[in-house]
Amino acid sequence: MARAGTMQWRSAHELRELFLTYFEGLGARRYRSFPLVPDDPTLLFTVAGMVPFKPYFLGLRAPEVARAVTAQKCIRTNDIENVGRTARHHTFFEMLGNFSFGDYFKKEVIPWAWKFLTEHIGFDEDRLYATIYLDDDEAHDFWRDLVGLPEDRIKRLGDDDNFWAAGPTGPCGPCSEIIYDQGPEFSCGRPDCGVGCDCDRYLEIWNLVFMQYSRDESGTLTPLPKKNIDTGLGIERLASVVQRVKGDFETDLFWPIITKACDISGVKYGDAENSDLAVRVISDHLRASAFMIADGVLPSNDGPGYVLRRLIRRSVRYGRLIGIDRPFLASLLPVVNEIMSDPYVELKEHGSAINQIISLEEERFGHTLSQGIELLENELNKLKSRSSAILSGEVAFLLYDTYGFPLELTEEISSEAGVEVVKEEFVREMERQRERARSSSKHSSAVMAKNIYTELADRLGATLFDGYEATSSDNSVIAAIIRGGQVVDSISSGDEAQIVLSRTPFYAERGGQVGDTGVISVGDAVFDVRDTIYLSGELIAHIGELAGGDIAVGMNVSAVVDAERRDAIRRHHTATHMLHEALCRVLGSHVRQAGSMVGPNFLRFDFNHFAPLQAEQILEAETMIYSQVLANLPVNTRVMSYAESRKSGVKALFEEKYGEVVRVLEIPGFSTELCGGTHVRATGDIGVVKIIKDESIGSGVRRINAIAGMASLDLFQSTTSALRSVSEILGVEADQFAAKIEELLEDKRALERRNQELSLRSVLDGIDSRVRNAVRVDGIALISDSFGAASRDLLRKIGDRIKQIEPLSVMLLAGVDDDGVTLIGMASDEAVKRGVHAGNLIKETSGLMGGSGGGKPAMGQGGSKNSSALKDILAKAEGIVRNQLEVAVKK
Ligand code: SER
Repeated sequence: MARAGTMQWRSAHELRELFLTYFEGLGARRYRSFPLVPDDPTLLFTVAGMVPFKPYFLGLRAPEVARAVTAQKCIRTNDIENVGRTARHHTFFEMLGNFSFGDYFKKEVIPWAWKFLTEHIGFDEDRLYATIYLDDDEAHDFWRDLVGLPEDRIKRLGDDDNFWAAGPTGPCGPCSEIIYDQGPEFSCGRPDCGVGCDCDRYLEIWNLVFMQYSRDESGTLTPLPKKNIDTGLGIERLASVVQRVKGDFETDLFWPIITKACDISGVKYGDAENSDLAVRVISDHLRASAFMIADGVLPSNDGPGYVLRRLIRRSVRYGRLIGIDRPFLASLLPVVNEIMSDPYVELKEHGSAINQIISLEEERFGHTLSQGIELLENELNKLKSRSSAILSGEVAFLLYDTYGFPLELTEEISSEAGVEVVKEEFVREMERQRERARSSSKHSSAVMAKNIYTELADRLGATLFDGYEATSSDNSVIAAIIRGGQVVDSISSGDEAQIVLSRTPFYAERGGQVGDTGVISVGDAVFDVRDTIYLSGELIAHIGELAGGDIAVGMNVSAVVDAERRDAIRRHHTATHMLHEALCRVLGSHVRQAGSMVGPNFLRFDFNHFAPLQAEQILEAETMIYSQVLANLPVNTRVMSYAESRKSGVKALFEEKYGEVVRVLEIPGFSTELCGGTHVRATGDIGVVKIIKDESIGSGVRRINAIAGMASLDLFQSTTSALRSVSEILGVEADQFAAKIEELLEDKRALERRNQELSLRSVLDGIDSRVRNAVRVDGIALISDSFGAASRDLLRKIGDRIKQIEPLSVMLLAGVDDDGVTLIGMASDEAVKRGVHAGNLIKETSGLMGGSGGGKPAMGQGGSKNSSALKDILAKAEGIVRNQLEVAVKK
């Protein structure tokens, strides 16, 4: 029988464990959560506990067991705008689920679920309801007859509520939900508020899906080979009921993160709806981001990586809204770990990657954010000059879409300038974008905001890139111009814009190689190209500013790349290929490129490897590359089919998607690799390749920074000149530096020792008078004093000395330096016999200063980083010792 109303507070951790053990007791195998990115082309993320088991439901693979139970990490992003605005929306959440693969069915699962909630968790039976699918009489009868639920608490609902499917196709079936009535105070107040209402009163606690059909592309339902069970119980809402809080964010899964975010920003939860929203969003998105990275997702511009990027960016923006304008996300990660790393050990295992990737993205976005702010300020200035106080929703949408500005941020900045944003226009643009996203991808939740760029790409097709050999062209035509997020016909001097050409020698950023810079000109009009990017698909845009004159669509222009910079990029790009090959040869064939950045001044190469590079390995790789440079081998490119390239063992990147026809870069006898970038003609053009940094950027991934060409010469020159200066200072040649510095350090150590002796002597000289003037506590001399920057060692020597002079003594001795306060407590034997406890004296005083310490009756040590309370503490020693003596007497 249920123990109605006896629900006790439990942590989410306990609830998770209770659920898993309960179903283990019913013969289920407990699986660890499967990864967030499923092995399933129809889904971007694991959206429910059943996803990893789909092949079993469909009968495509034989299950290892007939019953399973999991706490599954899930991500849903279709309703991201609602996260934080409601009590229940999340991107990342955990779904508790039990599964039957052709084994138990409705008759078993209904009473089991009931029993778990009422007997194991203590739900009040009278507040529970069940919903069932319209015609599911079977489920109805089990609820009535096996559970004893009164007829009026079993509701029949339609497809929207009680038929469940993971996607448009695949396994699906009618379901039955268990609903919990939170009470009238949670109601929306509408007269028809009841079971099935969207508000917070009738909470859907647990979904039991009777997985018995497969739906095909045409929507036809075919019975599955066997009947299955898939259930889903969101741990966040379960915890919110059990912990009797108002919403998921107030449970122990989120609250500590929220509290910390409040601490950092200085906002107080409950003070304002806006700041409450911000900290809720941050807590949600940060959990999701950490878990995604732990499962191997990296920020990028499409797929799961885009979702991750969006979540991190939204967090940064919401941070700004509550006044945090410095990187802060990483400082919340320890709190996420504290809550979640048991059982999700991956958060700890990949802790440093999570930290670095989030910090990096945060830093990068900080920059875009500033650009967006600049754009907005320009718009606001223009409005001011026209005496207008209305900012178009389209600009707000551009900021949202391209620069990742939430409407609230645009509104806030605008309102400071007395300008109002036309919200309706923004909403309309948003709707249009949603519409486009819905129709253009099955991954509607993750589609990047598409806009005029896609339309342009559809209209203009691919831009012809003819810059592998040439760096200038005279026969390009301006195909389109974009200014302020709008397609325009012309621009004039001073305008910032993006220009699309019919053909271009400018390389657009791709494959790690940065975009070209240079000049597009016609007559006296000069457009300075600051960067070149792929706008959408194969459409290239030149980003920059018109320095003079006018430019219009249709004009014939000359396009000239900054050739010196491009040459420097070429050297670094070919050097990257050579480095890749050299690392494979020196470290082993497991080395695979995980990412790269090729610029004019340096290259960055990320690859899989598990240990830091040894100095000899670095030298070996550099020497290997340099011998290929000296051999001055030709650098050839060939075009072949992808299949052919795979057969001939050309290196390709793991995750990269290649077309049918690929470009292969070959350094004969040394390296072959697929690549669309620009390269030198012969290896001799590269000069010396020097590795300047090797670091870890996550588990099993290392990052090397290296330089080539002029950058190497610069380093060589600056290093030799630095060595020369040092040589002049030290008066010896470079090969004698180590010995000379060792000698100087030895001198320094000797001086320090001498200095210490002198300070000890001078302190000890003054000790006698300090002891003579000491306060007496019941006859015991108390020396509570601070001794400059005295070290722990010195304090101890002082203490020993005091004990010699005064056999009935207790001391609290402090030394203060930049790191804080060091405390040593000592008590003579005689004082200890009377009840003095130096360890406790230290414990108490360190504690009062916000630090820690302790020890034995005769000796204790401690301290604090904060020295502000030191004076008070020294003064308090008397009272503490007196107290110790009084307690001793009473005993
Ligand atoms: N798959 C169902 C859901 O997500 C039950 O786990 O609700």
